[in-house]
Amino acid sequence: MDNEKFQKVCHRAKEVMANSDIYFDGHAMPISRQSGVYAKEMFNGSEEVCRLGGLLHDIGYTKNYEPSRGEHIEYGMKVAENILSQAEYESKTIDRVVDCIRTHDNNLELNSPIENIIVHDVDLLASMDQVPMAIELIQRFGDSYDGALERIRADVDKKREWISHPFFREMSNAKYDSFLLNLELMKDYRVE
Ligand SMILES: [Fe+2]
Ligand SMILES: [Fe+2]
Repeated sequence: MDNEKFQKVCHRAKEVMANSDIYFDGHAMPISRQSGVYAKEMFNGSEEVCRLGGLLHDIGYTKNYEPSRGEHIEYGMKVAENILSQAEYESKTIDRVVDCIRTHDNNLELNSPIENIIVHDVDLLASMDQVPMAIELIQRFGDSYDGALERIRADVDKKREWISHPFFREMSNAKYDSFLLNLELMKDYRVE
């Protein structure tokens, strides 16, 4: 892992990402860290590809992103390629990271590399952990607190089905129970 290059990518990602004050530390970085750890400690995959893939998977949501540009995945692949080549990563690494972006959000294929699977599943699992961040983000777009809780529940119920690897599916069961409990508590205990 080349830490200097990785830092460069972090800084650039934080600059271009929309709502990065919430989304960078609240989503991109945790997915990056966790994916890297699973790659290294559990699956003997590439820590570097997973850390970069986790960091950049949602980079398509840039400050100047417009819905007319189409889906955040396709656009994110281009943005990531730019950022990574500016940081002077080798094209082989860039291709693998960009491919992780392509397959996230339920686009895995039967022969997807383990790095893609890790980034994919860690991202989905995170939706069960990152409720406060999601509430803040959704409220920023004008939804109410209760509306945000409802949207998060629907989002997690959908994403839970997409988790691909048996290891992460197993992990999702306990996480989902605690997510539901947390959601109930957040309905009742709030600052008005
Ligand atoms: Fe995404
Ligand atoms: Fe994500």
